[in-house]
Amino acid sequence: MVMMSFRFALVALARFAVSATKPSLIFTMVDDWGRFNAGFHGNSLAKTPVMDALVRDEAILLERHYTYKYCSPTRRSFLSGRFPPHSGEINTVAATVDYRMRTIAERLAEAGYVTAHVGKWHAGHFSMAQTPHGRGFATSFGYFNGAEDHWTQQDTEDCKHNVTDIWDGTAPAFGVNGTGYGDLHFVERAVSVIEQAAGAPLFMYVALQCAHQPMEAPARMIQLHESAPSPVEYAMVSLVDEAVGNITASLKATGIWTNTLLIVASDNGGPSFSDQFAATNWPLRGGKYSVFEGGVRNNAFVTGGFLPSELRGKRLDAVLHVCDWYATFLGLAGIEADDNHDGVPEVDSVDQWPVLLGQAEPNVDRDIFLASGVLLVDRWKLITTDPGSENGGRSNNTQWSGPLYPQVPAFGDGSKVGCSTDVPCLFDVVSDPSEFTDLAAIRPDIVRNLSTRLAALMLGVFEGQAAANYTATDVCNATVRQGGYLTPADFPFQESL
Ligand SMILES: *[C@@H]1O[C@H](CO)[C@@H](O)[C@H](O)[C@H]1NC(C)=O
Ligand SMILES: *[C@@H]1O[C@H](CO)[C@@H](O)[C@H](O)[C@H]1NC(C)=O
Ligand SMILES: *[C@@H]1O[C@H](CO)[C@@H](O)[C@H](O)[C@H]1NC(C)=O
Ligand SMILES: *[C@@H]1O[C@H](CO)[C@@H](O)[C@H](O)[C@H]1NC(C)=O
Ligand SMILES: *[C@@H]1O[C@H](CO)[C@@H](O)[C@H](O)[C@H]1NC(C)=O
Ligand SMILES: *[C@@H]1O[C@H](CO)[C@@H](O)[C@H](O)[C@H]1NC(C)=O
Ligand SMILES: *[C@@H]1O[C@H](CO)[C@@H](O)[C@H](O)[C@H]1NC(C)=O
Repeated sequence: MVMMSFRFALVALARFAVSATKPSLIFTMVDDWGRFNAGFHGNSLAKTPVMDALVRDEAILLERHYTYKYCSPTRRSFLSGRFPPHSGEINTVAATVDYRMRTIAERLAEAGYVTAHVGKWHAGHFSMAQTPHGRGFATSFGYFNGAEDHWTQQDTEDCKHNVTDIWDGTAPAFGVNGTGYGDLHFVERAVSVIEQAAGAPLFMYVALQCAHQPMEAPARMIQLHESAPSPVEYAMVSLVDEAVGNITASLKATGIWTNTLLIVASDNGGPSFSDQFAATNWPLRGGKYSVFEGGVRNNAFVTGGFLPSELRGKRLDAVLHVCDWYATFLGLAGIEADDNHDGVPEVDSVDQWPVLLGQAEPNVDRDIFLASGVLLVDRWKLITTDPGSENGGRSNNTQWSGPLYPQVPAFGDGSKVGCSTDVPCLFDVVSDPSEFTDLAAIRPDIVRNLSTRLAALMLGVFEGQAAANYTATDVCNATVRQGGYLTPADFPFQESL
């Protein structure tokens, strides 16, 4: 009898221990961060002391973390656990996550997590069901679209005139606009979410506005970089650094840090295509809007007290894709990353926790479906489309960034690249990370192998369906009804949706 109750007590204790050890999971997505705009990658102009110290002492630097070449598809890939060609590649105001897919927030809420979103969304706002709250985040504070003025929160993407894009949970954040710099508001909210979460496992998605254009930053940050060739670009990156500092400080002060995994990652490469957009991805080729490494292989690291101490200060060269956090987080939360529905691509995400721990070899034969027409298999990248024609065909998208701004192409003219289905390009991005040499003619065997695999994948390209059928005009009408605050067409929110 005594033994039995002792055993029951042990079982109860073990259960408690399991639920109590579910780590808090915080994903900080940086916007348009150039690979070389970071002190930890060797740029002495970049003042990023907080992140440099984390990378040196407390993090695993993820040297091959892949995303989409621009914004919304990366975010939808993270939210849905699918590669961008399986979760949508459009980047317009109509972009959304297929309504049948269950997002990482919905799944983690099932596993008992407190869920919160802060900052940029860019994953649907035509209907309430597409908003962060509709997609599983218990709380949310931020903006819907891809960009807006950092100070006024005015957005020029919708309605063909300026609207105010700032939202809190299930309603516009009336009165917040024009009272401060966006990321300062967002980090303040992130800190208050942390302070209120003590006790429950937290999943927070912090999507910072920096270092996206418009080129604006607080004066104190610009002053730090007066001697740099592009002070505002560097200022916005320093603001990201301070944001990461404030978030880690509050995690440490609340004690949550010891059981937290914190990821910091850029959504795509830095825009390096003109004097106005002054990021640098040196020594990689290309930047935002290009499928060269500079556009899709971005700054990322994983840190937090949950990371075994012997792994801190290391770097990992295994290929990870931003969609992998879906299965990795769900695995840590103790649930399966299954999410299969008729007519919807299956989850592509792979639980990378064993690879991060060094307990499993990465799968070097895995298809990383980077974009329509582009396949990465470990060291080989096959490109069957124009690698940088998006965004008005800016030829600088495929140039080699110089280490400094202005963007003097660092290694000659990279603007003329012909890659097509008929004449694909092939790069060995391990031995040639700057993608100088197209090996297609020398390795027809690899081209044949990857082309066959890519052709099969191309049959499954999927943009997804919206959760409701509204148009941009419907959204504008709702926005007018709310006094100019960007608002989904079917506002207010119906919990039964
Ligand atoms: C729209 O917003 C931009 C950025 O804040 C501003 O420069 C411009 O003057 C605004 N235009 C109108 C018509 O209000
Ligand atoms: C960080 O916190 C300090 C102190 O509260 C504050 O002054 C600063 O604006 C914060 N910075 C960011 C980027 O949130
Ligand atoms: C390409 O970069 C050069 C050098 O910075 C710049 O002068 C030029 O305007 C850029 N071209 C485009 C199309 O943005
Ligand atoms: C490609 O090569 C891999 C590894 O050598 C092999 O397993 C696979 O069957 C090949 N695929 C095709 C379509 O040739
Ligand atoms: C939206 O409209 C399309 C075409 O009319 C239809 O096939 C689809 O089922 C609708 N989606 C929803 C969620 O109602
Ligand atoms: C939306 O606004 C447009 C033009 O402003 C108007 O023509 C249309 O009737 C409105 N639609 C609804 C459903 O209110
Ligand atoms: C906030 O946005 C609303 C709606 O666009 C606008 O009417 C108001 O003037 C803005 N407030 C400030 C302080 O800019």
